[in-house]
Amino acid sequence: MRISFVKTVKAKDDKTILDIAYDNNIKIKSPCNGKGKCGKCLVKAKGNVSHITKAEKKLVSEKKLEKGYRLACETKLTGDCEVFW
Ligand code: FES
Repeated sequence: MRISFVKTVKAKDDKTILDIAYDNNIKIKSPCNGKGKCGKCLVKAKGNVSHITKAEKKLVSEKKLEKGYRLACETKLTGDCEVFW
């Protein structure tokens, strides 16, 4: 499985985009330390990712969710994916 940031990295199943970014020294703002409470880890994810969570419905506008914006700390990979932030 791979996920693309500025560079392409390998990733394991069931990790969040935030965890994968952290593991690869890619910085994404995360003031609440990935607890799904601040809404600041917003990224645009294109590809195979988990379903939208309750925290995302609460913290991200419907319009942004429709455009593919997700919370990096709530979104897990389910396959190859590209991430922009
Ligand atoms: S780091 Fe705060 S919501 Fe993701």
